[in-house]
Amino acid sequence: MNHKDRSIMVSDLSYDQEEIDAVISVLRSEWLTMGPRTQKFELKISEYLGVEHVVAVNSGTAALHLGLLSLGVSAGDEVIVTPISFVATSNAILYTGARPVFVDIDSKTFNMDPKLIESAITERTKAIVPVHIAGLPAEMDEIKRIASKHSLVVMDDAAHAIGAVYRDRNVGTLADVTAFSFFSNKNLSVGEGGAVATSDGEIAERLKLMRSHGLTKSTWSRHYDRDEESRDQLYDMVELGYNYRMTEIGAALGLVQLMKLDRHNSRRREVYTLYSELCENLPVVFQEIPAYVRHSHHVLPILLPESMRPRVRKHMAQHGIGTSIHYTPIHTFSYYQQLGYADVHLPVADELGRRVLTLPLHQKLSNDDVSLVVRELRNALES
Ligand SMILES: Cc1ncc(COP(=O)(O)O)c(C=O)c1O
Repeated sequence: MNHKDRSIMVSDLSYDQEEIDAVISVLRSEWLTMGPRTQKFELKISEYLGVEHVVAVNSGTAALHLGLLSLGVSAGDEVIVTPISFVATSNAILYTGARPVFVDIDSKTFNMDPKLIESAITERTKAIVPVHIAGLPAEMDEIKRIASKHSLVVMDDAAHAIGAVYRDRNVGTLADVTAFSFFSNKNLSVGEGGAVATSDGEIAERLKLMRSHGLTKSTWSRHYDRDEESRDQLYDMVELGYNYRMTEIGAALGLVQLMKLDRHNSRRREVYTLYSELCENLPVVFQEIPAYVRHSHHVLPILLPESMRPRVRKHMAQHGIGTSIHYTPIHTFSYYQQLGYADVHLPVADELGRRVLTLPLHQKLSNDDVSLVVRELRNALES
């Protein structure tokens, strides 16, 4: 069955023979769960990012959850977060028993507005969780300055931002911990997967424990440790952890995808540049990209004139062009409304929620594809 229901998909995978071979070699090895390939994947990602420790897990959501736990976020705490993200960002805060406190976004970057953070801090605030939305790095220096002034910890959600750079430093090296997602539509994609990056060895040890039930030894090392004495040691359980382990299939895919990442991100950048040139005279708004960042162009959210979105989406679908919405503000979802966020009004995020439309952006788009998308966007706006 072909799931590709549009001739131009909003996001798309680039898998070829290398990924197929990588998966087959895992199947042939008959070791499917977290083992040597996962270790290698962690090492390669840590080298790529230039960070000391990377702990691979089975989703970005698991990375966010463990990241918060490793920083000591727990019931009764408050965590400052942006409302313009995938729900996983604030759901992970809820998993810990803490309460998300949403602050509005900057209308130019669509990222958390650092100017609004301090007024949201209370004596319960424990952490700040910025998201690099669409792949545009958040204002990390300012966020970290505020965090250190108030003795808070910072975890950035970098699900969109592998390969992004902020003031000459890679995303993944900027906060106490960074959570990545390798979900199917991400720049580096393994189906389901994620990772936490940190330069703190103690945090990394805690993450490893928590990813596998709080056990002191993994199944792989119990079976295959070279050192016989270590192999024969029994394991202890020292914390209440989870099963957030990555599979070897995911890690094998990740190793191949990592080798292609910079090439794919460059093509994404070219596609984005072409879009911005072709859209110059259209009444649409792009994220403003500061000169000191490198965007990873995970998705392309644009703002349309108020109330035109339904018509534009319909027109694009009729012409075989996929679109999406990144994002509906999290506090407006039914679950959050019932949880006590019905009185939360964040004017910039709320307006973005009504106007935003995500155009196709991925490494497989040709220049002709981009021209066609913009032509139909123009037709929709002028019809
Ligand atoms: C911003 C953001 N955070 C977190 C996640 C959760 O990642 P996963 O789907 O791998 O659990 C996603 C996406 O899927 C995301 O886009």
